[in-house]
Amino acid sequence: MVWNIWIGVVTLMLTHVATAAASVFRDPETGLTFASEFTNYRINQGITYRIAQPSDAVRGSPFDIIVQIVAPIDVGWTGLAFGGTMRECPLLLVWRNSAGNGVVVSSRWARGHVTPESYNGISFTLYKTGTKVNGTHFQATLKCTGCSYWTNNSGGTRFLLPGVDNRIAMAYSPTRPSNANSNTSSIAVHDVHAYWSHQLGQGVNANFGQVMQTLS
Ligand code: HEM
Ligand SMILES: *[C@@H]1O[C@H](CO)[C@@H](O)[C@H](O)[C@H]1NC(C)=O
Ligand SMILES: *[C@@H]1O[C@H](CO)[C@@H](O)[C@H](O)[C@H]1NC(C)=O
Ligand SMILES: *[C@@H]1O[C@H](CO)[C@@H](O)[C@H](O)[C@H]1NC(C)=O
Repeated sequence: MVWNIWIGVVTLMLTHVATAAASVFRDPETGLTFASEFTNYRINQGITYRIAQPSDAVRGSPFDIIVQIVAPIDVGWTGLAFGGTMRECPLLLVWRNSAGNGVVVSSRWARGHVTPESYNGISFTLYKTGTKVNGTHFQATLKCTGCSYWTNNSGGTRFLLPGVDNRIAMAYSPTRPSNANSNTSSIAVHDVHAYWSHQLGQGVNANFGQVMQTLS
């Protein structure tokens, strides 16, 4: 009886774990304005996913985005799925390196709900500006080319719509990749996944190109 109630409570907690909150984040370090989403991956602990886009992005065409992820250091790996589902879209993963003092970025693609493969359809630049690790968090700031536009396994093109809400998904695992210095390391399956409507309109930057030149 007591045990049943306990299971009920745990289930309730897990189904409610993925609460999200959107906000505008003006980043003093990069000078960019990000559309920011804070998502709980467990009780009282959340990961922040931020996306900045150029103001001249054209609907239906590829555009670069800058992604910033801030995660507590108990996160083994976390990732974004730009198609709002695990399947057939760019998956962008981040985790801490073996020494625990830097961040590794990895690009993957899943043909289904199975271990994703390495994916060369995007390229990314991890910036020193806005990338750091301290005693409680790691933070990555990177440019992604290809995260806004891709071709799926049936040859269909999919893309992010600039300036409006887009369904995005995240996944989280407490387990660090076994070969943490390598971005092709095998990864453990996630414990938690979540979706939200990312308000890209809140992260539109007129000076996107200029700012990118200042980031190293
Ligand atoms: C070893 C690697 C992985 C395995 C084995 C795996 C496996 C699975 C499985 C079996 C499901 C279905 C679970 C259910 O319906 O309850 C699922 C769902 C999901 N996974 Fe993964 N996954 C992996 C990596 C990833 C990564 C890297 C991401 C994103 C960065 C991701 C994002 C998602 C999302 C968003 C869902 C919800 C269903 C959907 O939207 O398609 N997964 N995964
Ligand atoms: C790993 O990083 C290298 C160098 O940044 C990059 O060229 C390659 O595409 C990445 N591979 C994956 C699977 O992310
Ligand atoms: C650690 O880094 C995170 C993410 O950048 C930041 O929010 C937090 O304030 C930092 N903590 C300290 C003590 O500097
Ligand atoms: C592939 O893209 C096409 C065209 O956008 C779409 O209709 C189809 O649902 C996509 N398939 C998957 C698995 O996303």
